[in-house]
Amino acid sequence: MVNRITELLRKMSIAEKIAQLSQLSADYFQEDGVTLTGPTGKQQVTSEELHSVGSVLGISGAERARKIQKNYLQHSRLKIPLLFMADVVHGYKTIFPIPLGLASSFDSELVEETAKIAAKESASAGLHAIFAPMVDLVRDPRWGRVMESNGEDPFLNGSLATASIKGFQGCVTDRFDENHVAACVKHFAAYGAAEGGREYNTVDMSEWQFRDQYLEGYQRAIETGARLVMTSFNTLFGVPATANEHLMRTILRKELKFDGILISDWNAIGELKEHGVASSQTDAAVKALKAGVDMDMMSFAYFELAQKLEKEGQVPQEIIKLLDESVYRVLKLKEELGLFEDPFRGMDLLKEEENVLTEDNLKIAQKAAEESTVLLENKDNLLPLKPDTKITLCGPLVRERDLLGSWSWKGNTTKNETIADALQNKFKGVTVFDEDLAEGTLDLNVLKQKTADSEVVIVALGLKSYQSGEATSMTKPRLPKKQLNFLKALNETGKKIVTIIITGRPLVLTEVSKFSDALLLPWFPGSRGAEAIANIITGEVNPSGKLPMSFPRDIGQIPLYYNSLRTGRPLTGSDNLDKENKYLSKYIDEENSHLYCFGYGLSYADFKVKKVQLVDKQIAKNGELNLKVEVANESHIDGQTVIQCYTHQCVAETAQPDRELKMFKKIMLKANEAKVIDICIPVTRLAYTHQDLTKKVDCGNYVLYVGFAADTKRKISFEII
Ligand code: BGC
Repeated sequence: MVNRITELLRKMSIAEKIAQLSQLSADYFQEDGVTLTGPTGKQQVTSEELHSVGSVLGISGAERARKIQKNYLQHSRLKIPLLFMADVVHGYKTIFPIPLGLASSFDSELVEETAKIAAKESASAGLHAIFAPMVDLVRDPRWGRVMESNGEDPFLNGSLATASIKGFQGCVTDRFDENHVAACVKHFAAYGAAEGGREYNTVDMSEWQFRDQYLEGYQRAIETGARLVMTSFNTLFGVPATANEHLMRTILRKELKFDGILISDWNAIGELKEHGVASSQTDAAVKALKAGVDMDMMSFAYFELAQKLEKEGQVPQEIIKLLDESVYRVLKLKEELGLFEDPFRGMDLLKEEENVLTEDNLKIAQKAAEESTVLLENKDNLLPLKPDTKITLCGPLVRERDLLGSWSWKGNTTKNETIADALQNKFKGVTVFDEDLAEGTLDLNVLKQKTADSEVVIVALGLKSYQSGEATSMTKPRLPKKQLNFLKALNETGKKIVTIIITGRPLVLTEVSKFSDALLLPWFPGSRGAEAIANIITGEVNPSGKLPMSFPRDIGQIPLYYNSLRTGRPLTGSDNLDKENKYLSKYIDEENSHLYCFGYGLSYADFKVKKVQLVDKQIAKNGELNLKVEVANESHIDGQTVIQCYTHQCVAETAQPDRELKMFKKIMLKANEAKVIDICIPVTRLAYTHQDLTKKVDCGNYVLYVGFAADTKRKISFEII
């Protein structure tokens, strides 16, 4: 391997090296694969540059990819195959729930399975690498990209990051197999903490907080072998990530030992000028190279640097060294993907047809949607509904086909069932009340008439696909007023109401929860989302989803997350004392607590933790906490739930959260079944970031909380010795 790469490096001119480090979008390639060098309306690129460029983003489909590769290889001097990349965020054509939805499954194996399918579909369509997973920790529902995240908890985020990498890449040692693709972890770093939840905004946090909470997702993805990392758009520790030497050289390369490709986000190198840390494109290019950014996605700054160096006629040794390092990494990935042996890897139309959007894949999409749906309310056990229930179905999303959510560019919304289709297939007595929602002036008598014959009203509310994803920051993460008024009016009819909320972000549901008897949250559930919703409503599937983010009572509480640090003046837990004492950390117009907490989600079954036992209450620093949790399903229905274990360190060197998730386990219990579940937590998981910024475990007293949500009260003490 090394020989081929060294040989190529020796032959490459500076311009060819720089082109190898540049990534162009699909706009530069025609349908027949021929490159576009003329005026494209985009930045112009010369024919030489185009025929020595290293990779292309946003192209898919075996046939098109093959044509482009063929044409490119015919024209390129060194015939180094192109690398094709694209955003496959929650499925290629088979669309799974949005990542935040998948995170609600608390099921790493399921997440791995969905990533494996996405990889196989992508690889069959000619892709070599994908821009996923996004592991930015997010605690702010105002940020539109929260939908792409695993939510607010470092351990859950890290566990699902690992699962995704395994699924995308398979067990790659030095060669990828044909069914897997290279994964690109994004966005390094801390993009999810944009101030005010405003897209592309500054991130400013202490390095302590960054290391203690935000780093884990990236770190675990890298430890699992992710081949690429993408820089984030934001500033961190005062320097934009794409030019941040401390972040990239010290933390990413040296400490996390990442030796794969670091690619910029779209035009992030060019944007260094806007940030005010570079005077020109070429200055930006040098700063990015120095920070260790190997590949330039669509800023053309690396191309401009090549032109400048050519004009100057001499290239500083430092730049040559940086270029060689970066080109080496790009060629190494191409080698690992087997592109030198077969530049047309995976580009086979028949195989694509065989592997993409298969019934088996769709079945997993449905399972994933079922397991990602969170039941938030179920007053008087309204759900599940009997098959002969008379139902009025209404709301603006009842006939919505786009249940896929943002970042599903290859998904086909016309093929999806709507919620109305799926429920009409299950229940005979369904009438769909389709009228537009008048501006909060709904006539109660009309509504009463419309719903007169039904026992239950099912209303589908929420946001549209385009209201989450990149560049969709929102100051008011809640239902549109019109929809809330509609729900209020429905409530006044006195009928039982099942509300379905389609959304890509947590919303303030305080009023919605009051006006609903049952409240179901399928997020954007993907290709088979409607079927999954219907199965949960009939009870064929017992819901098991748990929230990966806290839901606030009010917008003013944001950011609100379960594992925030304690304060010196916390609430006491006694209503009277807390009311009497003004000088506590609280609001004067709202409670501190969430509406729905992290880890929360109901089931039709009744699960109880009967007993928690620690095998040993004194555990060595290099040991593990072994617990036996007796869990019972005290109901007549089978179901799944998630045992969640949180710890709290009583006295530490830095401030500590009230509790933090250290392990979770999804289990299945039959009706009336009780089981003892063994759970093992390595003590290394109790490590936290000390004042000197190193992460380690302290001896001392701890509390372990065990239950089915982050606010569980069941606790047990232990000591690390
Ligand atoms: C996004 C990335 C994405 C890239 C390529 C950018 O705008 O921030 O997450 O991978 O575009 O589509």
